[in-house]
Amino acid sequence: MGWSERQVAMLAEMGIRVWSTPEAAAEAASPPPELRAAVVAASPQREAAGAAAPAALGARPLGIDTMGWPELREAVAGCTACKLCSGRTQTVFGVGNERAHWMIVGEAPGEQEDQQGEPFVGKSGQLLDNMLRALGLTRGDAPADQQVYIANTVKCRPPGNRNPEPAELAQCEPFLIRQIALLQPRIILAMGRFAVQSLLRSTEPIGRLRGRVHQYQGVPLVVTYHPAYLLRNPEDKSRAWDDLCLAREALQAHTTA
Ligand code: URA
Ligand code: SF4
Repeated sequence: MGWSERQVAMLAEMGIRVWSTPEAAAEAASPPPELRAAVVAASPQREAAGAAAPAALGARPLGIDTMGWPELREAVAGCTACKLCSGRTQTVFGVGNERAHWMIVGEAPGEQEDQQGEPFVGKSGQLLDNMLRALGLTRGDAPADQQVYIANTVKCRPPGNRNPEPAELAQCEPFLIRQIALLQPRIILAMGRFAVQSLLRSTEPIGRLRGRVHQYQGVPLVVTYHPAYLLRNPEDKSRAWDDLCLAREALQAHTTA
């Protein structure tokens, strides 16, 4: 496979080394030391499941589907509609410019996100930021076409980083749906199976859904691996890179159509 110098530089940003000889390719099959360390750090049960006292559950606020950004943000901040509210330090609403062309949907806040109130600020977030940088994208200040808005499928941290449960996903979903409706992104990147379940209503594995352009209410949507999965399976990073390139193409096609 011929890589241009620019592509190699981009892939390096993502932590992917491109190998030109079969020996080097064989070496690439084993993760580099820094990733091995990440794999080890990510795998043990990091902490016991939170033993927070159960809080009384409230109803989800009414009228989410007509809220503007400030109301929606407030509604999430005060939400007690599922039991994840009892273990959170704070809700994690989303980050990025409200006119961003790209929208990225992840899973749920982890420990760092719960502490800082911003999605993807831990290890997965570093990888995500590198991947985005490789495409010239940022969650920070930039022209709208270079910006991403990042949100999660659920806004409160599941205790011990367990998977969100179906009832929690269902309770939280209207917030994400409203975020998408307000943002009107030109491309959606759904990372991992919970984002996919929520947005595409599909339980097919990521491996079968990636590699083609889906639609979410008329917006092109590309499915890719979750960064936490990529930290454990770095051999799939090149597929994730292909997905990002596909998303960029889909956006360009959608914009000029
Ligand atoms: N993983 C996610 O899916 N979202 C975050 O915000 C952090 C890690
Ligand atoms: Fe509300 Fe979502 Fe938090 Fe559950 S996860 S309490 S539905 S904001």
